[in-house]
Amino acid sequence: MRMPLLQIESLAAGYGKGEVLDDISFALFPGSLAYVLGPRGAGKTTLFMAIAGIVRPKRGVIRFDGEDLRRKRPTELLARGIAYVPHNRLLCSSLSVRENLLAAVWRDTDRPRLEEQAERLAQRLPFLKTCEHQSAGRLTDGERQLLAIARALMSRPRLLLLDDPFNALTRAEAEQVAGLGAELAGQGTAVVIAQRNPTPATNSGVTAYTLDGGRLSRSQTLMGPSRPGLAAT
Ligand SMILES: Nc1ncnc2c1ncn2[C@@H]1O[C@H](COP(=O)(O)OP(=O)(O)O)[C@@H](O)[C@H]1O
Ligand SMILES: [Mg+2]
Repeated sequence: MRMPLLQIESLAAGYGKGEVLDDISFALFPGSLAYVLGPRGAGKTTLFMAIAGIVRPKRGVIRFDGEDLRRKRPTELLARGIAYVPHNRLLCSSLSVRENLLAAVWRDTDRPRLEEQAERLAQRLPFLKTCEHQSAGRLTDGERQLLAIARALMSRPRLLLLDDPFNALTRAEAEQVAGLGAELAGQGTAVVIAQRNPTPATNSGVTAYTLDGGRLSRSQTLMGPSRPGLAAT
């Protein structure tokens, strides 16, 4: 039987005494691309932060590759292959594109391996090379989003959580980000994208979940422009 990469059972999480997530259950397999939809305040970011170890669950279980993650720190989760790209992208504007990339994997002293990974990413995203010495603050919104994803990919994650990645992007930029997400899923990474509503850039033929009232329900197969190379799951 195929093992889920990520398995969440009856997860409850929130802040202080309040609960934002009440009873969340879902499973994600390697190479899947899924959307989590829900209005502002529904708890999309909270769900990602719980998976990434930033918010501690109150109840329930989160398993990654069969291992219980509940007491692990964010850095331990990153080392296991969980990468979270926050909605504000959190780049260092004063650092160059290249410095942002290489600053990604803290405590990794294997410099040649990092250089090799940066090189590989630049083959897919040429601006990483052509703009490598430019400060990240001078990039377009779309390039900043792609750089934030590229930085997360420096650790070669098995699960990539993209929080509201299309915000402030043009249609063409959003399509590029959606295309990259589909491509990564095609290569075996599990990719989850949180956003408020399906947009024109939203990939077709993928599973969407809707977060509502602290619960997650499988909602629909999103319709959007079809993308070559994206297999329906
Ligand atoms: N650090 C925090 N402390 C207290 N409440 C928070 C915090 N972050 C988010 N919340 C609350 O949790 C709820 C869900 O927020 P969030 O997970 O950011 O939703 P979404 O990402 O779907 O917009 C909201 O009511 C929000 O006000
Ligand atoms: Mg959010």
